[in-house]
Amino acid sequence: MRKQIVAGNWKMNTNIQDGIKLAKAINDFASNYNLENKEIILAPPFTHLSSIVKEVDPKKISVAAQNCAAWEKGAYTGEVSAEMIYSSGAHFIIIGHSERRQYFNEYNATLFQKVKICLKNSLHPVFCVGELLAERESDKYFEVIKRQLVEGIFGLDSENFGKVIIAYEPVWAIGTGKTATPIQAQGMHKYIRKLISEKYGVTIANETTILYGGSCNAGNAKELFAQPDVDGGLVGGASLKANEFIEIIKAL
Ligand code: PGA
Repeated sequence: MRKQIVAGNWKMNTNIQDGIKLAKAINDFASNYNLENKEIILAPPFTHLSSIVKEVDPKKISVAAQNCAAWEKGAYTGEVSAEMIYSSGAHFIIIGHSERRQYFNEYNATLFQKVKICLKNSLHPVFCVGELLAERESDKYFEVIKRQLVEGIFGLDSENFGKVIIAYEPVWAIGTGKTATPIQAQGMHKYIRKLISEKYGVTIANETTILYGGSCNAGNAKELFAQPDVDGGLVGGASLKANEFIEIIKAL
C-alpha cells in the first residue's frame, strides 16, 4: 500500500532557532500520534538540515532539502551537493519546485540530472510538476504535466522510479490562497497515475505516492486527501505554523 505523506516546504523562512522550535513542536505531536503507513517530512532550508535531523524522531519524521546541485562536486561556489545533503541525515529532496523553475531557470533536462544525482546518493526525490494559470485556462494542463514527467523523470528505470514521490502543484494555487478543487486535484492525480501505469506498469503506479500542493491548509486538507488518488500534501505557508500543520497531518 502506498504511503500517505504530509510534507512541509518551509521555503526561505525561519532562522535556525525558530526552525528548531517548529520542528520540536511537530515532533512532540508526532511522538504520541499513530502514523501507521503515514509519514511526515520537513523540508527546512539547507542551513537547518543537520540541526533538525537531531531534533526529530527518525521513525516518525523525515527531513528533506529543497534543492540540490546538478553536479556531483567541484568548483561550483555556493552550491550544495546531494552527497552533502545525505551526510546531514536528510533522506529526501524536493526537485523541480515551480519557484526553482520560474526564478532559477531550472528546466526538465537539468531536473532529470538532479533526480539522477539524488538517487545515486540514496536520496528520494519529491518531484514537482504543475501548470501555469494560462496553461490551465487554455486547457493545456494535461499536456504540460505529461511533458514535465516524460522529460524530468520518466527516463528512470523502474527500480529507481519506485523511489520517487510525485507532487502535483498547480502554479496558480501556490501561495495564492486559491486551491485546486478536490475534483481538479483528483482529475490530475488520476491522469498522472495513468501515465505512470503506461510507462512502469500498474503495480508501480499503484505504489507511487502523489502529493497535492498549492494553498493546502487545515480547512481544505481533509477533502483533498479524501480523493482516491491524492496521497497527502506538499504544504508551504501552512507548514510554518505548528498547530495548522498538525491539523493537516491529522487530515491524512
Ligand atoms: P503553499 O505552497 O502551500 O504556500 O501554496 C506550496 C508549495 O509551494 O509547495
